Amino acid sequence: MRWNKKHIISIRDFSREEIDFVLKKSRDMEKKLKLGKTSSLMKDKILANLFFEPSTRTRMSFEAAMKKLGGVTIGFDYPGISSEVKGETIVDTVKIAAGYADVIVIRHPIEGSARLASENVDVPVINGGDGSNQHPTQTLLDLYTIKKEFKRIDGLNICVIGDLKYGRTVHSLTNALENYNVNLCFISPWELRMPRRMVKGLEAKGIKVRETTKLNIKNFDVIYVTRIQKERFPDPQEYERVKDAYILNMDAIEGIKNEAIIMHPLPRVTEISTDIDNTKYAHYFEQARNGIPVRMTLLCLVCGVKF
Ligand code: CP
Repeated sequence: MRWNKKHIISIRDFSREEIDFVLKKSRDMEKKLKLGKTSSLMKDKILANLFFEPSTRTRMSFEAAMKKLGGVTIGFDYPGISSEVKGETIVDTVKIAAGYADVIVIRHPIEGSARLASENVDVPVINGGDGSNQHPTQTLLDLYTIKKEFKRIDGLNICVIGDLKYGRTVHSLTNALENYNVNLCFISPWELRMPRRMVKGLEAKGIKVRETTKLNIKNFDVIYVTRIQKERFPDPQEYERVKDAYILNMDAIEGIKNEAIIMHPLPRVTEISTDIDNTKYAHYFEQARNGIPVRMTLLCLVCGVKF
């Protein structure tokens, strides 16, 4: 695959070989980072972070990744401070950013916005999350975290818990897992279950999928928890009904596999009790840290920088 100037919009745009390539290069990058050998790879390059929706991890880790590569960042972290408030369109905003930067990261509440942005500029665009649709760089760091722990993805038993209807991280992850030989279980309130097209996509690839409303997590290697996405509910009363549907606390994790890992893309609200943070199962803070080597790798690849 030609990576230089490649847009990263949907994980569906990548084959298993391409995903595995990013994971391997991210491992190489992490080693280089530890040896202090990355600080001039992106010297003189500029990243534009265009965040039309709040973010802690995605925005800060892209910024940190760019700085660790010797590059600089420009942009905005809240739409209220861009000219969107004066009526400027997404397309005009990204065209302007493309004139100032070598690579753009965009987060926007509208599904398809990152694709639209990529179709209008000739610098690489990376989707930092578009509505409930996709969050491909989150998925790559999720897979990186799993592979770092288990040295493989094939053969694992993975359960995904929470808001499977509106959660973009689980949509991207589900799409990516179509490429691997895994056993999947989706645990959610009935009204927040995984979209049918995604379940059908998995089944068409021969992936075993089980769906349930019961929080039985004893047999899984990876326990992937998500937040109920309050901001996506059209009806606030519906959110109130399901907001505390699942809470992972010390009682809930009793009897889970010794080698199990608990992941969460974060932010969390109440769905993982803070007691769990101090157990060997908690991998969500490390997962967030893994965003650095993975995003450093992606920035180098799409900017044509060899490492
Ligand atoms: N995981 C994630 O996308 O976090 P932020 O919303 O803080 O970027």
